Amino acid sequence: MQQLLESLGPVTAVIGAQWGDEGKGKAIDLLAEHFDVIARACGGANAGHTIVVQGKKHVFHLLPAGSLHENKTVFLGSGMVIHLPTLLEEIETLRQAGVDIVPRLRLSEGAHIVFDYHKDIDGVTEERRAKATGGKIGTTKRGIGPAYTDKAARTGMRLGDLKSFGASSAALRKELGWRAKLANAQFGVFIDTKKEEQHLLQAWELLRDRIVPMRTILDDLDKKKRILIEGAQATLLDLDHGTYPFVTSSFTTAAGAMQGLGLPPRALTSCIGVAKAYCTRVGEGIFPTEVEGETGDRLRERGGEYGATTGRPRRCGWLALDDLDYAARLNGCTHWNITKLDVLDEEAEIPVGVATENGKATFEKLSGWKSPTRGMRDFATLPAKAQEFIRFIEGRTKVPVALIGTGPGREEMIIR
Ligand code: IMP
Repeated sequence: MQQLLESLGPVTAVIGAQWGDEGKGKAIDLLAEHFDVIARACGGANAGHTIVVQGKKHVFHLLPAGSLHENKTVFLGSGMVIHLPTLLEEIETLRQAGVDIVPRLRLSEGAHIVFDYHKDIDGVTEERRAKATGGKIGTTKRGIGPAYTDKAARTGMRLGDLKSFGASSAALRKELGWRAKLANAQFGVFIDTKKEEQHLLQAWELLRDRIVPMRTILDDLDKKKRILIEGAQATLLDLDHGTYPFVTSSFTTAAGAMQGLGLPPRALTSCIGVAKAYCTRVGEGIFPTEVEGETGDRLRERGGEYGATTGRPRRCGWLALDDLDYAARLNGCTHWNITKLDVLDEEAEIPVGVATENGKATFEKLSGWKSPTRGMRDFATLPAKAQEFIRFIEGRTKVPVALIGTGPGREEMIIR
C-alpha cells in the first residue's frame, strides 16, 4: 500500500473508464484514509453506491463513497448539480447511525441546485423524444440534464445564491416564480414553488455555514492537503468525449474533474482508471462487445449487475480494450483498478474486444482460468491464466494494473 500511495502523489482522481458502475467506490474507500480531502467534482446524484453503516446497507447518490472516514473533509465541487432533499436525506441517514458529517462537509458556492421540476422536465423530454423518434436516452430521470441546461443557459440557481436570499422567503419566491413560468412555458411542467421554497429553506437552515467560496479547494492545495477525487459516472458517458447523445450532461474525465473542482490541471499527480474485467452499460447507446442470451445472463447473475436503487438489469458484455486504451489516453491514467475479476472465474474462454469498426467489435480470445479467485489478495497466487489476462490489459494499454478486485468485500483486493 505504501508503495502505491507514493506512486499516486498528493492529488489523485479515480475515474471510471467504461459506462459507469465500475466499482469506483471500493478503491475510494480503500484510499480515503490516506487523504485529507475527499472530493466530488461533477455530476449529480449517481446511480448509487452502497455504504454499510453499522452493519446496515445504505445507497448514497451524492456524498462520496469515502464520506464515512472520520476527520476527512468532504468537498462537493462547483461542477456538481445537487438535489438538496437527497443530500439532506443522506446526511440524516448518517446522523441516525451516529455519524455527523455536517461539520466536515464543504459545499462549493458554485454548485448548482437540482429542483424537483428538473426531474419532471427530464421525464417529459424523454417521453417527447420517444414519441418523435421511437428512442430514448435512458436517463436516470434525476433531472441532471435539465439542471445543466439551466446552468448553461444561465437560468440556474447556485448554492451561493442561497446566501443572498436564503433567509428571505420573499426573495426566494421571486426567484422561483420566474423560473416556474419559464419551465411551464417551455415544457408544460408545473412547479410547486412552495415545496421548492421549503426545500431550499430547510437546506439553508442546516447547511448555511457549510457553503464555501469556490477557491477553498485551492487553499487546500496550497496547504499541501492530499486530495482524493471521486469521479462520477464514467469516461464513455462524458458530454464531450463519450458516446453522444447517450451520455450524461457533465464532464466525467480527469480534466472535467479538475475543471469541476476548480483545480489547475497540473496539480493532478495521478489518475486511477477503474474498469470491470468485463463491461456493463445501463441506458441506451452503442455497446459493441455486448452479449445477450445465456452468456450475458451469466455475467449479470455472477456480477450482480442490477442497479443499486432501481434494480434495473444492466446490459452486459466483454471487456473492450480499445475503449480502455482510449480512456487511458484521454484521462492520462497512471494506474488501473480492474474490478470484479472473480466474476470471470467460471468462463472457459474470455473474448476481449480489441478493435471496433462500424459499431462491431473484433475479439481476441483468451483462455479462462476456471478456478476461484474470490478473495485473493496476492497477485502471485492468482491462476496463471488470470495473471495473463491482467498482463494482456497492461500490454495493450501501457498502464500498470495496480489494484485488482476479487470480490465485493473491502478486503477482497489485490494491491500490487
Ligand atoms: P443522466 O445522467 O440521468 O442524464 O443519464 C444519462 C446516461 O448516463 C444514461 O444512459 C444513464 O443510464 C447513464 N448514467 C447516469 N448516471 C449513471 C451512473 O451512475 N451509472 C451508470 N450509468 C449512469
